Amino acid sequence: MNVMVVGGGGREHAIISCLARSPRIKKLYALPGNGGIADLAECVPVSAEDIEGVATFAKERAIDFAVVAPDDPLVMGAVDRLEAQGVRCFGPSAAAATIEGSKVYAKALMRKYGVPTARYEVFDDVDKALSYIAVSEAPLVVKADGLAKGKGVVVAENFEQARDAVLACMRDRAFGASGARVVIEECLTGPEVSVLAFTDGKTVVPMVSSMDHKRAYDGNQGPNTGGMGVIAPNPHYTPEIAATCMRTIFRPTVKALNAEGRPFKGCLYFGLMLTPGGPKVIEYNCRFGDPEAQAVLPLLESDLLEIMLAVREERLAEADVRFSSGASCCVVLASKEYPGSCKIGLEIDLGGADKLLGVSVFHAGTRRGDDGKLLTAGGRVLAVTATAPAAEEARERAYDAVERIHFDGARFRKDIGAYGTQAIR
Ligand code: AMP
Ligand code: GLY
Repeated sequence: MNVMVVGGGGREHAIISCLARSPRIKKLYALPGNGGIADLAECVPVSAEDIEGVATFAKERAIDFAVVAPDDPLVMGAVDRLEAQGVRCFGPSAAAATIEGSKVYAKALMRKYGVPTARYEVFDDVDKALSYIAVSEAPLVVKADGLAKGKGVVVAENFEQARDAVLACMRDRAFGASGARVVIEECLTGPEVSVLAFTDGKTVVPMVSSMDHKRAYDGNQGPNTGGMGVIAPNPHYTPEIAATCMRTIFRPTVKALNAEGRPFKGCLYFGLMLTPGGPKVIEYNCRFGDPEAQAVLPLLESDLLEIMLAVREERLAEADVRFSSGASCCVVLASKEYPGSCKIGLEIDLGGADKLLGVSVFHAGTRRGDDGKLLTAGGRVLAVTATAPAAEEARERAYDAVERIHFDGARFRKDIGAYGTQAIR
């Protein structure tokens, strides 16, 4: 089969590393891919958000199957466009992707179908939003309705922070049209868990749970980022909690989307908080998490292409979805200035880290220079994952690999997975 993966970050590198092992794939393309993906797939300089460009390429190269990985093209309808021209896809329709594309939609769905989540109000008027926060008790969480490259959420500790977040979003349009409406919600507490689940709209098969580390600096300090590291499985996520989530969150969400005429096929991401009142949904994503995919997929033992085809054909119940009983630890190496705007084009020395047993060096923001040298090309540069039978060993291996890698200003958190079973926030 000719298969293409739309996207070009660490998540896509992890997906492509799995797909590359599938015996049924004759040719693998990445649009646009990156410096690491280039070793496994032909990288084509078409942006993931250029839906017409993606569709034209699929036609020209007789693509049999497409994996649309990032949120933007999914919400923009890339899957609908490709399916309409006969290309089978892994990923939700635009209608189903709205569960990530609009937080207002996601919250209304949860309210209507009784899926546990934080209490909330929606505002499309700045003054009304400001009046509401003036009479509400802090902390409060302010969320832009639409996609905001992971930056649209502010956990405001006091009235001033909540006011600034509302003004930045609604008046100054820091996230463009995405901030025309805001969700203001109750601040929940408890450990966070990410659960990625395959679903074909009929069956839900959760993958190994994981824990993202979103803050930029050690000890969960500093600004929120796209994610600085992940461990899998998540030590807080017991089999009892998993059973509760399946009953109260995963199945009800899939059923709700069906009932609304938006059946979801693909990877549904549940961002959960294990609150004293039980597990609640913090957010939904319509795709694999980044960097969660880089920690979870290396533990997948069965054939990812076969699972993705089964999702597309609505026969997931029969598919072989097996994960190793081991653990993984993924540490992100970022540019010095991340999450601010970063200097790029710095030479990277992998120091043989990618050759270590049980280690995968996923490229997030890299490219090959004209002389073939590996260069930085973004804020998050590499995601280094180690797998091992137990969590502590995975952590040691990951950091051993990370210490070998060098580029100017390389920065990483030293405490990924270091909290054991303690609650972290
Ligand atoms: P998101 O961009 O939706 O993933 O949100 C970013 C982060 O904000 C989450 O990972 C949580 O740490 C935090 N967050 C979002 N909503 C809430 C909430 N209702 N209560 C507490 N923290 C939240
Ligand atoms: N790691 C969180 C996300 O992918 O949105």
